[in-house]
Amino acid sequence: TGSAPIIAVDGPAAAGKGTLSKRLAEALRLPHLDTGLLYRAVARLMINAGLDPASTSGESIARALSLADLKRTDLRTPDVDAAASLVARDNAVRQALVDMQRIFARKNGAVLDGRDIGTVIFPDADVKLFITASPYARAVRRYIQNGGTDDAPDRDQRIRTVEIALIERDHADSTRASAPLRMADDAIRIETDALCADEVLAHSLRIVRDRLKAKNVNFPSAN
Ligand code: CDP
Ligand code: CDP
Repeated sequence: TGSAPIIAVDGPAAAGKGTLSKRLAEALRLPHLDTGLLYRAVARLMINAGLDPASTSGESIARALSLADLKRTDLRTPDVDAAASLVARDNAVRQALVDMQRIFARKNGAVLDGRDIGTVIFPDADVKLFITASPYARAVRRYIQNGGTDDAPDRDQRIRTVEIALIERDHADSTRASAPLRMADDAIRIETDALCADEVLAHSLRIVRDRLKAKNVNFPSAN
C-alpha cells in the first residue's frame, strides 16, 4: 500500500524509547509522538491546579489537552514522573487521550512511543518494537540524562534512588487494570543493556525496513 506506516515503540521507563523514536522518525521522515508526554502534561496541570492525582480524576484536563501542552518544559521532573503514573491508571483519562493519538498517527503515519501503543492504541501497527534494559542500566541512563556525573561522590546512592523509583513505576504501570505495560505478542524485543543509542537505532532501522518491505508498505523514505 502507499499509506505511511505506523510504528509502535513500547517498553519500561528510561529504556531509550524516546531517543530511539525521535531518531527513527527522523530517519524515516515520519512524525513522532512521545505519548508519555500526554500523561505527564495532565499530571503537571493537575499539580499546578492543586489537584491530587491519587484521589482526583484528570479526565476533564485530559479532554481539554492539546498538542501545544506537550511542549511545556516542566514535564520531566521527579514529581511529574510519579504523578503521571498515577494519572495513567485512570481509565477515563486514558479513554480521553485515545483519539488524539490515533488522529495524530493516521494523518501522515508516525512513530509513537509509550507503554500501550502496540497493545491498545495501534494493535495493528505496521511494526512493533519493545525496547528494554535491566533496571540498573536504565537507572544509570536516567541519572546521566538528568545531569549526574560518573565522578560524583554520591553517584551510587543517587543511581540506587533512581532505580528504586523506576522499579516502582514499572510495577505500577505493569499491574494496573487499564492498558498495562506489556509486550504485544507480535512485538520484537530489543535488549539494550549492552547497546549504545546508535546501535539500537541501526538495529531498529534494519528491523523496520525489513518488516515494511515484507508487508509491501511503500513510502518515499522507506529506503
Ligand atoms: O520517559 P519515561 O519512560 O520515564 O516515562 P514516560 O514514557 O514519559 O511515561 C510517563 C508515565 O506515563 C509512565 O510511567 C506511564 O504511567 C504513563 N504512560 C502510559 O501509561 N502510557 C503510555 N503510552 C505512555 C506513558
Ligand atoms: O523514553 P525513555 O524513557 O524510554 O528513555 P529516553 O529518555 O529516550 O533515554 C534515556 C537516556 O538513555 C537518554 O539520555 C539516552 O541518551 C540514553 N540511552 C539510550 O537512549 N539508549 C541507549 N542504548 C543507551 C543510552
